[in-house]
Amino acid sequence: MAKPIALAADHGGFELKEAVKAHLDELGLAYVDYGTHSTASVDYPDMAVPACEAVVKGESDKALLFCGTGVGISMAANKIKGIRACCCSDSFSCEYTRRHNDANALCMGGRVVGPGLACQLVDIFLNTEFEGGRHQRRIDKLTALENR
Ligand code: RB5
Repeated sequence: MAKPIALAADHGGFELKEAVKAHLDELGLAYVDYGTHSTASVDYPDMAVPACEAVVKGESDKALLFCGTGVGISMAANKIKGIRACCCSDSFSCEYTRRHNDANALCMGGRVVGPGLACQLVDIFLNTEFEGGRHQRRIDKLTALENR
């Protein structure tokens, strides 16, 4: 059975997370929702950590993260060893961050992208494979930077 997708959002991304959850439900894909569970104000680093740790621990293969812009939560996620998070609002970047960067966290802004585009980006992110090859060498250099 596929591992559940790790989800997290702050208040700025809460509604988009809920829309993406409905999409995942329609697709029959399992997820774990690490919050937040309302529009009450929270801090995006606090929300990013448990979802990203689930990925690092191997409990999930990928995380979908949301804040107002997608930027803050991507910054938080990229501080966590083993996470390669991208903030995307276009399909080209979303496809290539999987193909070339082996991104394991997709971050989107609830104040930037609508639910239709967000769900389309989720589909691309979940269904695009890493190409490996010369790109693996670059990922290895990212990992070396983390360990510096
Ligand atoms: C919260 O108001 C907002 O700053 C946050 O959701 C996010 O956009 C930060 O990058």
